[in-house]
Amino acid sequence: MMKNVKMAMLIAVMVGMGTAAQAAQTPSVEYGEKLFNDPSLGGATGTKTCESCHPDGAGLEFSAKNPKLAEIINMCIVRAMKGEELPMDSVEMQSLILYHKSLK
Ligand code: HEC
Repeated sequence: MMKNVKMAMLIAVMVGMGTAAQAAQTPSVEYGEKLFNDPSLGGATGTKTCESCHPDGAGLEFSAKNPKLAEIINMCIVRAMKGEELPMDSVEMQSLILYHKSLK
């Protein structure tokens, strides 16, 4: 009996840690690149990804210098992919910005 309780607590702790790790995910170039190739970005349901129109980030090499980069990214998500805008401070948006900064 006691053993089962301990086991249940251990599982609860492990599950809890799993969700905490997800919430604490930090923005990264790698995640940005993954999203750049993700057709479901912004909840889009089509087949297009950023990559479809900007292969390997072609033409976006200087976009990171644009102070409106986040708005442009959202514009492409909404107009080109029929998705929904990403919150400016989301891990997704910050990762996409890092990915643009890595293009040179
Ligand atoms: C259906 C094609 C299409 C898709 C999909 C698309 N874009 Fe675009 N994007 C364009 C066009 C067209 C322009 C405007 C012309 C240009 O600058 O290439 C543009 C412009 C941009 C620019 C500004 C370029 C500059 O001049 O600095 C950025 C940044 C950008 N897109 C990022 C993205 C990202 C990130 C995604 C994925 C969320 C994406 N795009 C998806 C077609 C697309």
